[in-house]
Amino acid sequence: MTITASQNAWILETRNTTYALGLDEAGLLVHRYWGERLALHDIPPPPPMRGWASFSNGAHHAPEEYPAYGGMSFNEPCVKATFADGTRTLDLRFVGAAVHGDELRLTLRDAVYALTVTLVYRVYAAEDIVTRHVVLHNAGAAAITMERAFSAVWHLPHGDGYRLSHLAGRWYDEMNYQQETLTAGVKVLESRRLTSSHTHQPWFAVDRGDADETRGAVWFGALAWSGNWKLTAEVTDYQTTRIGIGLNDWDWAWQLAPGETFTTPVALAGYTSDGMGAASRLLHRWARAHVVPRADEPRRVLYNSWEATFFSVNETQQMALATRAAAIGVELFVMDDGWFKGRVDDKAGLGDWTPDSVKFPRGLAPLIAHVEGLGMRFGLWIEPEMVNPNSDLYRAHPDWVLHFPPRPRSTGRHQLILNLARPDVQDHLIGVFDKLLSENRIGFIKWDMNRAPSEPGWPDAPREPREVWTRYVYGVYRVWDTLRARHRDVIWQTCSGGGGRTDYGILARAEQAWISDNTHADARLRIQDGCSRVYPAITMEAWVTDASEDRFPLAFRFHVSMCGALGIGANLLRWGESEMGAAAALIAQYKAVRPIIHLGECYRLDVAAAEGQYGMQYVSGDESESVVFLFRLHGAERIPPLRVRLMGLTPDRLYTLTNTTTGAALGPHTGAYWMRVGVEVALPAIGSAMLRLRVVS
Ligand code: GLA
Repeated sequence: MTITASQNAWILETRNTTYALGLDEAGLLVHRYWGERLALHDIPPPPPMRGWASFSNGAHHAPEEYPAYGGMSFNEPCVKATFADGTRTLDLRFVGAAVHGDELRLTLRDAVYALTVTLVYRVYAAEDIVTRHVVLHNAGAAAITMERAFSAVWHLPHGDGYRLSHLAGRWYDEMNYQQETLTAGVKVLESRRLTSSHTHQPWFAVDRGDADETRGAVWFGALAWSGNWKLTAEVTDYQTTRIGIGLNDWDWAWQLAPGETFTTPVALAGYTSDGMGAASRLLHRWARAHVVPRADEPRRVLYNSWEATFFSVNETQQMALATRAAAIGVELFVMDDGWFKGRVDDKAGLGDWTPDSVKFPRGLAPLIAHVEGLGMRFGLWIEPEMVNPNSDLYRAHPDWVLHFPPRPRSTGRHQLILNLARPDVQDHLIGVFDKLLSENRIGFIKWDMNRAPSEPGWPDAPREPREVWTRYVYGVYRVWDTLRARHRDVIWQTCSGGGGRTDYGILARAEQAWISDNTHADARLRIQDGCSRVYPAITMEAWVTDASEDRFPLAFRFHVSMCGALGIGANLLRWGESEMGAAAALIAQYKAVRPIIHLGECYRLDVAAAEGQYGMQYVSGDESESVVFLFRLHGAERIPPLRVRLMGLTPDRLYTLTNTTTGAALGPHTGAYWMRVGVEVALPAIGSAMLRLRVVS
């Protein structure tokens, strides 16, 4: 049993953790415990209600599970609303609870107004994860304006001095791992960019400042949402620490009409006593078991044309690239931007999704037949949410874009954003791409989104226009879900100028993600390290390109990209026979270990990243096989060998180790030996190695 209800208390148990909440003496729904599994009789009672002086009352000090704006409480609330008569505070009281299997629903209702707030908890016992979302319902006769509706606040055990780990960056430089001690006040991470953004990831990990990859208590979580979001990491004036997370209330409001409900995105969180690495693996396991589509099918090796041919694609040249790609073992050929009407550069074409008659006078069919004849699937790049002013679509529907009528419509990359909050725009896109997918044998779609918003207006909105931030994302989801449902064979990739829309909202409908436009091998190692903290390798598409070829050998660039779903983005028409041969051999090596990388567990090895060294290890679910990638980005010649202790093996089984790069074989030794003594690997100042371990008995 994962949920126990007793005496106004609810205890959520996973394999290794306990999460407890209940009513306090004043009837407030408060948090009681979250951490390592605890016997029911040891769960602490709700903290006593107390106020300190006349400057805050008991509610300010109570660790409420879903605090509302109201009373003398000054911490970050989860919910704020204005009622039709102008009242701007809430007074939520517990009215009932229901348990259905792994789901707990707790309903609160305002003491005066007919607003109910249902907190929904779901327990994922095997992965030590709890998810939460909230359903708001207006059962009254007058509209209610919601001004904040977070998905959750997560309370840490009493105290301050916690350390927050998060991922920050920018276009071309996403997911840099950051760590900082939380001090009094509120630290905000957010997106105001219509997507989850390159700037911050909707993810956190919190520890007491002492956790490393393998040891220490870590509380972690994320928000499954692809639009504006906000995270508030708050250390209160009475030394408590809490993480609120949900839709961003920046420039946001939602009108809840009589009878309507509003459902927030899902927030998820987990706890481990075994450090940052274990936290990542729990998230990966949860995502593969419950979120990412087809997560039991290793991803195809793909080729993508972007960095090879940019906008100047045409039939003969793409056929030639496809022939070269097939020769080295590529399984999916993707034509990127440039294939549709008028798309000679980034100034025209977006919106008109038919093949360009100059570049593809016979349509896409001959190219697709050629690709399929070579034994590969065919894929295509699209950017449905965008329109160039120079397009037939914009000339026909200038009112379809986000804008404020009196203001100029600012372009980004010469494009405007279609207002996907509008059902007619959604229907148009469903029609256009349904036709494209029905008329062409397409096995893969790369869905891009290449600008941040400006003038986010929705003229003539039938409702509160600030709903646009949320309705837009639900519009994207509706188009995506409808097309997925109608074209079940297609694999989908999320992209937004690289990693601008990588999150667990979109990864519920995209098999894989393009996490950065930066394909330089050194930058990639750092970005991929950040990505591995949240997302499993199977979702992370990674291309070998010609970028940084002057600094990193081909095998190095391959090894970097093998740490995810391998792709090739180089101009193969330029590659000589020796590069083609080497690439074919590396792709064959990758295919042999791909199930371990995509379906197994991932370990970040302790090899001193600060000194430009990275180590990633993947272990199969049954621990019988493992693959290790080691990298050295710089250093002096005559540098000593790298000594690395491996992870995740069965201590008493015997494993042999082969260095795939040099051919050297070692062992057999026990898993305990490889994990405690380790292996020495000689790497040049700039170099990489791939090691394989196999159980012998
Ligand atoms: C974005 C993507 C790239 C490529 C270009 C095409 O920048 O991230 O991979 O598809 O658009 O215009």
